[in-house]
Amino acid sequence: MSLFDTRPKVAVHVAQTGEQYPCASSESLLTGMLRLGRKGIPVGCVNGGCGVCKVRILDGETRALGPVSRAHVTLEEECQGYTLACRVAPTTSVHLEVAGKLSKPFSRGRADSATASPIPQQQ
Ligand code: FES
Repeated sequence: MSLFDTRPKVAVHVAQTGEQYPCASSESLLTGMLRLGRKGIPVGCVNGGCGVCKVRILDGETRALGPVSRAHVTLEEECQGYTLACRVAPTTSVHLEVAGKLSKPFSRGRADSATASPIPQQQ
Protein backbone atom coordinates (compact mmCIF):
# COMPACT_ATOMS: atom_id res chain seq x y z
CA MET A 1 0.00 0.00 0.00
CA SER A 2 1.36 3.41 -0.91
CA LEU A 3 1.76 6.27 1.50
CA PHE A 4 -1.37 7.81 0.07
CA ASP A 5 -4.19 5.29 0.32
CA THR A 6 -6.58 6.29 -2.45
CA ARG A 7 -8.89 3.30 -2.20
CA PRO A 8 -12.56 4.27 -1.96
CA LYS A 9 -13.77 4.04 1.60
CA VAL A 10 -16.99 3.92 3.54
CA ALA A 11 -17.66 5.01 7.12
CA VAL A 12 -17.77 2.44 9.92
CA HIS A 13 -19.43 3.51 13.17
CA VAL A 14 -19.01 1.58 16.45
CA ALA A 15 -22.11 2.05 18.60
CA GLN A 16 -20.64 1.49 22.09
CA THR A 17 -17.67 3.82 21.75
CA GLY A 18 -18.95 6.32 19.20
CA GLU A 19 -15.79 5.59 17.21
CA GLN A 20 -16.01 6.18 13.46
CA TYR A 21 -13.37 5.40 10.88
CA PRO A 22 -13.05 5.07 7.09
CA CYS A 23 -12.69 1.49 5.83
CA ALA A 24 -11.91 0.32 2.29
CA SER A 25 -14.25 -2.21 0.74
CA SER A 26 -11.21 -4.40 0.05
CA GLU A 27 -10.23 -4.77 3.72
CA SER A 28 -11.99 -6.25 6.73
CA LEU A 29 -13.80 -4.06 9.25
CA LEU A 30 -11.11 -4.98 11.78
CA THR A 31 -8.13 -4.36 9.48
CA GLY A 32 -9.48 -0.94 8.57
CA MET A 33 -9.69 -0.02 12.24
CA LEU A 34 -6.20 -1.36 13.00
CA ARG A 35 -4.66 0.43 9.98
CA LEU A 36 -5.66 3.72 11.55
CA GLY A 37 -4.61 2.73 15.07
CA ARG A 38 -8.18 3.07 16.23
CA LYS A 39 -9.89 1.12 19.00
CA GLY A 40 -13.44 0.03 19.58
CA ILE A 41 -13.65 -3.51 18.23
CA PRO A 42 -11.74 -6.04 20.36
CA VAL A 43 -8.75 -7.50 18.49
CA GLY A 44 -7.63 -11.10 18.71
CA CYS A 45 -6.20 -13.44 16.08
CA VAL A 46 -7.39 -11.33 13.07
CA ASN A 47 -7.92 -14.61 11.25
CA GLY A 48 -11.39 -15.82 12.18
CA GLY A 49 -10.22 -18.22 14.88
CA CYS A 50 -10.91 -16.67 18.28
CA GLY A 51 -14.29 -14.92 18.04
CA VAL A 52 -13.11 -11.88 20.00
CA CYS A 53 -14.03 -9.47 17.19
CA LYS A 54 -17.67 -10.58 17.07
CA VAL A 55 -19.96 -7.73 16.10
CA ARG A 56 -23.56 -7.23 15.11
CA ILE A 57 -24.21 -5.24 11.95
CA LEU A 58 -27.02 -2.84 12.86
CA ASP A 59 -27.12 -1.04 9.53
CA GLY A 60 -25.26 -1.39 6.23
CA GLU A 61 -23.97 -4.23 4.09
CA THR A 62 -20.84 -6.37 4.20
CA ARG A 63 -19.33 -9.14 2.10
CA ALA A 64 -17.48 -12.20 3.37
CA LEU A 65 -13.70 -12.32 2.98
CA GLY A 66 -13.51 -15.84 4.37
CA PRO A 67 -15.54 -18.39 6.27
CA VAL A 68 -17.06 -17.39 9.62
CA SER A 69 -16.68 -20.21 12.16
CA ARG A 70 -19.94 -21.66 13.48
CA ALA A 71 -18.10 -22.08 16.79
CA HIS A 72 -18.24 -18.30 17.13
CA VAL A 73 -21.30 -17.26 15.08
CA THR A 74 -24.25 -19.65 14.89
CA LEU A 75 -26.54 -19.69 11.88
CA GLU A 76 -29.27 -18.09 14.01
CA GLU A 77 -26.87 -15.32 15.09
CA GLU A 78 -25.77 -14.77 11.50
CA CYS A 79 -29.42 -14.26 10.53
CA GLN A 80 -29.61 -11.61 13.28
CA GLY A 81 -26.63 -9.71 11.83
CA TYR A 82 -23.78 -11.14 13.90
CA THR A 83 -20.44 -11.76 12.23
CA LEU A 84 -16.68 -11.52 12.81
CA ALA A 85 -15.19 -8.11 12.01
CA CYS A 86 -11.99 -9.71 10.74
CA ARG A 87 -13.90 -11.80 8.18
CA VAL A 88 -16.12 -9.24 6.44
CA ALA A 89 -15.53 -6.09 4.41
CA PRO A 90 -17.99 -3.21 4.16
CA THR A 91 -19.76 -2.60 0.86
CA THR A 92 -21.71 0.36 2.26
CA SER A 93 -21.36 2.53 5.34
CA VAL A 94 -21.77 0.30 8.39
CA HIS A 95 -23.15 0.87 11.88
CA LEU A 96 -22.19 -1.96 14.23
CA GLU A 97 -22.13 -2.92 17.88
CA VAL A 98 -19.47 -5.00 19.60
CA ALA A 99 -20.83 -8.38 20.70
CA GLY A 100 -17.65 -10.33 21.45
CA LYS A 101 -16.19 -11.59 24.68
CA LEU A 102 -14.60 -8.25 25.55
CA SER A 103 -17.65 -6.10 24.84
CA LYS A 104 -18.34 -5.13 28.47
CA PRO A 105 -15.18 -3.04 29.05
CA PHE A 106 -16.10 -1.01 25.97
CA SER A 107 -19.68 -0.34 27.06
CA ARG A 108 -20.71 3.07 28.24
CA GLY A 109 -23.48 4.42 30.36
CA ARG A 110 -24.46 1.14 32.03
CA ALA A 111 -25.63 2.29 35.45
CA ASP A 112 -28.13 -0.52 35.92
CA SER A 113 -26.44 -1.90 39.02
CA ALA A 114 -26.33 1.53 40.63
CA THR A 115 -30.07 2.07 40.25
CA ALA A 116 -31.44 -1.47 40.42
CA SER A 117 -31.50 -1.84 44.20
CA PRO A 118 -31.95 1.24 46.41
CA ILE A 119 -29.82 1.57 49.51
CA PRO A 120 -31.89 0.57 52.58
CA GLN A 121 -32.59 3.38 55.00
CA GLN A 122 -31.16 3.04 58.51
CA GLN A 123 -33.56 3.61 61.37
S1 FES B 1 -9.88 -11.39 15.75
FE1 FES B 1 -10.05 -13.55 16.11
S2 FES B 1 -11.86 -14.07 15.06
FE2 FES B 1 -11.59 -11.98 14.53
